[in-house]
Amino acid sequence: MQKYSICTLEKRLVTARDIACARAVCLGTCSEPNETFQKVSGGLPTLLVGLLSDAYVQWQEFFQLTRDMGQRASFCKSEEVRALQRVLTILAKVSSLDTTLGEEIGRAGSQTILSRLMEEIKVSTCIVETDGSCEEDFDALMDLQDAACEIYVTGKRGVVAFTDEKLTSRLPLLYNLRPADSENVTITDATTILIHQVAKRQTAQADVGYLMWPSAIVLSRWLLSNVHVLKNKTILEIGAGCGLVGILAATIVKKYNTSDQVIITDVNNTVLENIARNINVNDVSSIASVSKLDFYQQSGDNHAGKWIAGEFGGISEKQCAPVDVILAADIICQPDDAVAAAKTIYDALIPGGAAYVVCANEKHRFGVGMFAGECQSLNLHVKSTDVKDMYDGGLLTECMNTAAGFVDGMTLTFFEVYKTKL
Ligand SMILES: C[S@@+](CC[C@H](N)C(=O)[O-])C[C@H]1O[C@@H](n2cnc3c(N)ncnc32)[C@H](O)[C@@H]1O
Repeated sequence: MQKYSICTLEKRLVTARDIACARAVCLGTCSEPNETFQKVSGGLPTLLVGLLSDAYVQWQEFFQLTRDMGQRASFCKSEEVRALQRVLTILAKVSSLDTTLGEEIGRAGSQTILSRLMEEIKVSTCIVETDGSCEEDFDALMDLQDAACEIYVTGKRGVVAFTDEKLTSRLPLLYNLRPADSENVTITDATTILIHQVAKRQTAQADVGYLMWPSAIVLSRWLLSNVHVLKNKTILEIGAGCGLVGILAATIVKKYNTSDQVIITDVNNTVLENIARNINVNDVSSIASVSKLDFYQQSGDNHAGKWIAGEFGGISEKQCAPVDVILAADIICQPDDAVAAAKTIYDALIPGGAAYVVCANEKHRFGVGMFAGECQSLNLHVKSTDVKDMYDGGLLTECMNTAAGFVDGMTLTFFEVYKTKL
């Protein structure tokens, strides 16, 4: 197995996104070349446990030697203790930034090493306390103990290592999204978004946002071809599910370095927690935030614009300012949703604002056929276009099979909804 220096791993595993990408590259599922990591059986967890094992063996030799020879240990100055401390810090950090990886590290064998280490640290602590070593030695041992405990707690579930196949199924989906309007775009023009779906089993209709849906991919690729609609705008995604569209919008805003903000919303708390995780893994926390928005809480009579955010994440229900742009994908699952979604768009847009909505057609999503009429009854202006007539069908060509409920030949409609100033 290829070995990596502690220094390299400290530099390359800094953010949640670095970690997710490294997990994918180590399992050989990332198509982009990576100058640091290579494919390895057992993936990143095995690589990290290997590093821990090497540092532990060196510590153990040092520990045995000092114990057998009755020497004063001088823990804080030893190379072995410092190396082990750095490795434990890496493991503690990656486990807290990515709890999925934390569990995988545990299953890959860190638990046995850590429990032995914690026992040995206890013995060393007694030696340091009795032989009059300096306070720094004691502190160095306590730091080791704290880091070892932290990792042990994250990884404690399960004892059998995951297979590569299982590790691969636990990776976030990786979307290399490209605009649909240029024939010559290459993979390097792609905007890569990582999306965790909710791993829990879907038990009710209310859990549909646990998975990715086809319209989100279509709307995201349309946005990449129409980035001007986002410039200098406040942006709201409604019924966001895994949050692909809003996160892509935030990534575009970040690229253009404007001060725009993107609020990504849904009604389901588990879905909202997953969106927060996806915002973090895509490094857009400075631009994107999560709020709860229930279509059925909006009245549909606020011409000046305002919307109600529900209680979530310790924030009480409140009224929020209207936005310039609303993004929505596959938000209608039943006829009442069409009415409530139209009211939401009316309320949450500023006069002069626009909503871009993509939905699979009535045949696949009951109630979509009513949506344009519901918007018009609120004096919203609607333009509907069959998605296959846009960019010569180019919006339907990539990534669609990653979405739940996608069927070949599925028809989707793109709605542009405008709220007039008068
Ligand atoms: C079919 S999923 C689409 C998710 C995502 N936009 C996509 O395309 O991948 C519908 C989403 O609407 C959300 N939703 C359902 N009822 C809602 C309501 N009353 N208010 C706000 N969102 C709702 C669900 O939680 C779910 O995330």
